[in-house]
Amino acid sequence: MTMVKRPNILLTGTPGVGKTTLGKELAERTGLTYVNVGDLSQEGQLYDGYDEEYECPILDEDRVVDELEDKMEEGGVIVDYHGCDLFPQRWFNIVFVLRTDNTQLYTRLESRGYTGKKLQDNVQCEIFQTIYEEAMEAYSEEIVHQLLSNTPEDLEHNLAQIVQWTQQWMKDHN
Ligand SMILES: Nc1ncnc2c1ncn2[C@@H]1O[C@H](COP(=O)(O)OP(=O)(O)O)[C@@H](O)[C@H]1O
Ligand SMILES: [Mg+2]
Repeated sequence: MTMVKRPNILLTGTPGVGKTTLGKELAERTGLTYVNVGDLSQEGQLYDGYDEEYECPILDEDRVVDELEDKMEEGGVIVDYHGCDLFPQRWFNIVFVLRTDNTQLYTRLESRGYTGKKLQDNVQCEIFQTIYEEAMEAYSEEIVHQLLSNTPEDLEHNLAQIVQWTQQWMKDHN
């Protein structure tokens, strides 16, 4: 039996930067499996309480990791989540942190219905490059890359780059 080796890719960044848009299209183009951790957690109710301040459920990180472990072990998974330090370092071959200009992000989150503190906090998260720093702490720095995600051209450019990286990785590992 032949097992083709395929890489695991993490797409992370502040809510609204374009992880889901990129991840779904990337899955189409590469044949890798797209996993949205927010959706997975909701489906399995992998929660451990509710954060009143940020108006969102708190993930049960251990259960999320357990749920994904077998799939990640096999390889070929694109993981989409707005945090990154809950996952084991060994899972990912490459980590992309998407970045968006503050004004654009503000508009995107507003049209998603975010208001008040939730809107402000998410825009601040991007200004302070919180997720990028989290990624640089959690993973080996040489596998962490920032991607501009402001325009449709950026999206297309990022797709082309990651498709090419994936093809090269598969050549090198099979
Ligand atoms: N590169 C881009 N250029 C312009 N708009 C984008 C880009 N990427 C995503 N968007 C738009 O921004 C919004 C948020 O994208 P989404 O993929 O849901 O972000 P996330 O999953 O990171 O929260 C959507 O309306 C999407 O169409
Ligand atoms: Mg999303």
